[in-house]
Amino acid sequence: MSHRLYPLKKQRLQRSELAVPASNPTMIDKAAEGAADYVFLDLEDAVAPPEKEQARKNAIQALNDIDWAGKGKTVSVRINGLDTHYMYRDVVDVMEQAGDRVHTLLVPKVGETGDLYMVEAMVNQIEMAKGFKTRVGLEALIETALGMANVEDIARFGGRLEAMHFGVADFAASMRARTVNIGGLNPVYPGDQWHAAIARMVTACRAFGLRAIDGPFGDFSDPEGYKAGARRAAALGCEGKWAIHPSQVALANEVFSPTEAEVTKARRIIEELRAAEAKGKGAASLDGKMIDAASERMAANVLVVADAIAGR
Ligand code: GLV
Ligand code: MG
Repeated sequence: MSHRLYPLKKQRLQRSELAVPASNPTMIDKAAEGAADYVFLDLEDAVAPPEKEQARKNAIQALNDIDWAGKGKTVSVRINGLDTHYMYRDVVDVMEQAGDRVHTLLVPKVGETGDLYMVEAMVNQIEMAKGFKTRVGLEALIETALGMANVEDIARFGGRLEAMHFGVADFAASMRARTVNIGGLNPVYPGDQWHAAIARMVTACRAFGLRAIDGPFGDFSDPEGYKAGARRAAALGCEGKWAIHPSQVALANEVFSPTEAEVTKARRIIEELRAAEAKGKGAASLDGKMIDAASERMAANVLVVADAIAGR
């Protein structure tokens, strides 16, 4: 390891993250009763401009009326972008009226660290002014060419930033990629056309102790396509994926949960290495394969998630 370490800033179970337009209180109530680890109340793109103010009020009411933590969930609010005239009031109203109830703010279309600096400064002031003992976290949505070009800098921001998300729909738009399909594969491309972007964001996340989350898959009538995308994201190091429809929550929970076999294997790796260590050896073999300290680090990642699921 390098001398400078960036341990994971905040462990939260985030296998499934259900997006709920805050303009729809019925959907908010259903989300609270569902199986998603995370729910984000959306004030941004799923809410039409005439609905913005009511959506903000609904989000505040839902934060105050529903015991999200008691239901084993993390609750987040996606504020509007810094280029709109809604954003400042989203932060002020949500934080002043429910800042000790909301767990994180999801900042869309983050392009540079200054975007996070502004939100961080606002929430610092509001928490101080209100005397809150809680501390809201920040999550950055990387979904523009500018955000991706600056993703390492953004990851390095520090402060309250604890996770980054890949927003494939806006990213495709920003890149002028030839598609109108949210998150699906382009058949003319040999492989996954989002691979490089997700891999870059995940690397930036893991370098600086942030959780990495994959964004939406629009075709909710294609569960196999969703699961394939989720598996590709998991293979690269993402620990969860958005659900833009309640039917996708179970799919995400399934893909991002270690299987019994993976948990058993992880425990056996650690047992074998302890036994080898007692004999003065650093490496061992398990089921005909070499294992060493790096295997233990991989196994520990599996067990952290398994423990978080068990403790939910
Ligand atoms: C999410 O906001 C996306 O644009 O994919
Ligand atoms: Mg977007």
